Amino acid sequence: MSLLKRIKKYVTGSSQTSEKKFAVIKSINKESSTTFDPKNPPPELSEREVQIIKDCWAIVQQSVAEVGIITFVGLFETHPEVHDAFMSFRAVNTSDLEYNAILRAHALRVMGTVDKCINRLDNNIKIRELMTNLGIRHINYSVKIEYMDLMGPQFISSIKLHLKTIWTEEHEKSWENLFRFMCYYIRKGMCSI
Ligand code: HEM
Repeated sequence: MSLLKRIKKYVTGSSQTSEKKFAVIKSINKESSTTFDPKNPPPELSEREVQIIKDCWAIVQQSVAEVGIITFVGLFETHPEVHDAFMSFRAVNTSDLEYNAILRAHALRVMGTVDKCINRLDNNIKIRELMTNLGIRHINYSVKIEYMDLMGPQFISSIKLHLKTIWTEEHEKSWENLFRFMCYYIRKGMCSI
């Protein structure tokens, strides 16, 4: 079964998915960084942005598993090379059952990390430490540094589906900034060894 059919089957239970749902998650990602430049100052979040993020998260949190999976499906659809990297150290003949469990587990871990960051937005030192260590661990997972910047846009496309009625440009900017902040320190960790 093709990658696309496989992930669609996972999300919907059928490989014959309506194109509408998947059209929404396709987004053009901005250029991503292939390195960490310590001369670039770390992004900062304003109080207003922190409030917007917390308000959104209170709503989206109830659908965290779905948001996580849709984020990954979007990422793999728009960037199949990330999927290959993700599965590279696994058995070639991963069964659908194992595949689903792997996809779900990582999606939930990413969501758990976003949750941790949001709950610690008042304590930047802790987030910096968490994200830098996460970056260091991702070196062992053979993840390319430029893949990190691809996660934010897909995540944002995915939460937008749940926040359609309240979503504004300001929401978009706040979430972009959160991922910029997280990924700054993840990249720092990835380049620290
Ligand atoms: C914001 C971005 C990301 C976050 C927050 C994140 C978070 C995590 C977390 C929490 C783990 C569990 C293990 C640990 O704590 O070390 C993990 C593992 C892993 N991540 Fe990520 N990740 C991100 C992006 C990516 C990307 C883009 C890839 C692309 C290939 C990736 C590939 C992996 C792999 C291969 C593992 C190994 C274990 C597993 O399969 O679960 N991650 N990630």
